[in-house]
Amino acid sequence: MNALAPMPHDTENPGHAPVMLAEVLAELAPRSQGRYLDGTFGGGGYARAILATADCQLWGIDRDPDAITRGHEQSDTLLAREGRRRLHLLPGTFGEMATLAEDIAPFDGIVLDLGVSSFQLDQAERGFSFKQHGPLDMRMARSGPSAADLVNKASEEELADIIYHYGEDRLARRIARAIVQARGEEAILTTGRLASVIRRVVPQDRSGIDPATRSFQGLRIAVNDELGQIERALADAPRLLAPGGVFVVVSFHSLEDRLVKRAMAHEAGRTARPSRHTPGAIDPSVNRSEFALATPKPLRATQAETQANPRARSAKLRALSRLSSSASPGIAR
Ligand SMILES: C[S@@+](CC[C@H](N)C(=O)[O-])C[C@H]1O[C@@H](n2cnc3c(N)ncnc32)[C@H](O)[C@@H]1O
Repeated sequence: MNALAPMPHDTENPGHAPVMLAEVLAELAPRSQGRYLDGTFGGGGYARAILATADCQLWGIDRDPDAITRGHEQSDTLLAREGRRRLHLLPGTFGEMATLAEDIAPFDGIVLDLGVSSFQLDQAERGFSFKQHGPLDMRMARSGPSAADLVNKASEEELADIIYHYGEDRLARRIARAIVQARGEEAILTTGRLASVIRRVVPQDRSGIDPATRSFQGLRIAVNDELGQIERALADAPRLLAPGGVFVVVSFHSLEDRLVKRAMAHEAGRTARPSRHTPGAIDPSVNRSEFALATPKPLRATQAETQANPRARSAKLRALSRLSSSASPGIAR
């Protein structure tokens, strides 16, 4: 029995249920002596499963100092001595993975599980959730400008843009106006106050989704520069792969998935040049890429998983592989 094997019901990680874990493992197919990079270590659910599957090494990045602290505790206690030799934690962002992992690459697999963890969502004091009353924070890294800074200092137009583009809420202008009006009376410093300002101007629709959901998503994306981070990782990760290595991304909303889909298709040479004969189709003769789409269509969570974990409902998994015959990797700087 492998000392690192607490799956599939992850009793070591009650705070966060890893989404699409079986599919992630199937794509990565961890191998003995392999090197893996988990750019979103979180509760360590993927990391422990990868380490349990093969006698490999794993480097875990997270921008949240709490996740890194938890990871160190795991490697000291839960993963025991074996863990310390095989699990390495790198505080920082996956957007800077090329620098963080410069001396460690190439990897046999790289994985990103985007968004926030249940640890972050469930702690009221982190300020991510409109369901709980807490400070309006939303900073994964616990540093830099908070959501309260943004909500109280940004112009009405800037707030409307964030809520429209990142929250994809059609009522963005109305919401931004209400925020500016409310903060004129008194600064908006809590999740509860912001949620009630939004709920006053956005009617509850039949979906049952809280009217504050989209605005909170938009603000969280802006506070953490989430799309910028993803773009940087999508540009760098393929070049950190060893020949035969796989890059796996699990995303949770259309803004993320669109970036992943486009970048992977581009790397795989699928968007190189449309065929002259059938416009819109790709001319396979121009595909000389050293990468291939491992998942031509995104994988979705099983019904059993979405029933057990509603967060998995919106998950999409895409994977890109580096061909075994490709040349040695390298990041162009
Ligand atoms: C969904 S959770 C990952 C859960 C993990 N797969 C598990 O099984 O426990 C996302 C984690 O990624 C981290 N994160 C999000 N964006 C990041 C970024 N740009 N750089 C580094 N870490 C990031 C968050 O702090 C959070 O801990």
